Amino acid sequence: MGNPGLDIVRKYMRNIGSTEQPSKAAAHASGLGGDAAANDLHGLFDPQEDGHVREYWDRKFAAEGKIWGETPSRSALCALEMFRREGLCEVLIPGSGYGRNSRLFAEAGFQVTGVEISEFAYQMARQDDPYSCFLLGSVLELPDGAAQFEGIYCFNVLHLFDRAGRQRLVQRWHALLRHNGVLFVTVFSEHEPTFGVGKRVEENTFESKIGRPVHYYSEEDLREELSAFELIHTDLIEEPEEHGEGTHVHTLRYGVARKT
Ligand SMILES: C[S@@+](CC[C@H](N)C(=O)[O-])C[C@H]1O[C@@H](n2cnc3c(N)ncnc32)[C@H](O)[C@@H]1O
Repeated sequence: MGNPGLDIVRKYMRNIGSTEQPSKAAAHASGLGGDAAANDLHGLFDPQEDGHVREYWDRKFAAEGKIWGETPSRSALCALEMFRREGLCEVLIPGSGYGRNSRLFAEAGFQVTGVEISEFAYQMARQDDPYSCFLLGSVLELPDGAAQFEGIYCFNVLHLFDRAGRQRLVQRWHALLRHNGVLFVTVFSEHEPTFGVGKRVEENTFESKIGRPVHYYSEEDLREELSAFELIHTDLIEEPEEHGEGTHVHTLRYGVARKT
């Protein structure tokens, strides 16, 4: 017997895989919504609007593979503990990359949906994390009301957009979270060594790597960005990484917020 929910999700994935998704993912997919959700998800992929962003990340993943290794980020472990305590089940991971964080949540029993713009990363994620559901497309195109998630975990994606894009993304999250749902987001802080390096694109936004402008968040800035939510907690978190220039530690800012 077919699974209508899974069919709905497949319809809106750019590359419809020939392999069957496992039952856990199928059950998850069926929870994404009915026909209304299917219509809403139409247009998730917009290659023109995000062409240069997709190319940047595709090139990076093609050249460097699993850039940040196999292990999940430190903040994902914190978010996992918090989401468990809150008794959450359905989690959205915008900018899911090759699945190192989605896999953590999926293996812990969460129903996970990842959204990723790079087809390269999307294909790696589908291979490495068969239990999550992945959508290929831009997080900015996530429609209102397509699904109601209980939690959102987003690692180092929000700071990649310009001011208008960041506001739009936070609005998307607000629309996609259920009442009482929890957002856990990490971004670059002004304590990053690359703050102020490269071309200034906007206020506190610099292109230290060509083709990848980053907005560096102060605490006040993040509080304002998340003002539609009830901010539960914000602080700095150190995130060690080993890639490109070798071992280094990012000083990220995180925010945990609730939709009230
Ligand atoms: C810094 S990486 C973090 C990846 C992942 N969160 C992780 O920690 O492994 C940013 C990710 O966001 C993705 N991305 C950038 N812009 C996006 C967009 N508009 N929609 C969806 N994904 C996007 C990139 O392709 C990349 O995978």
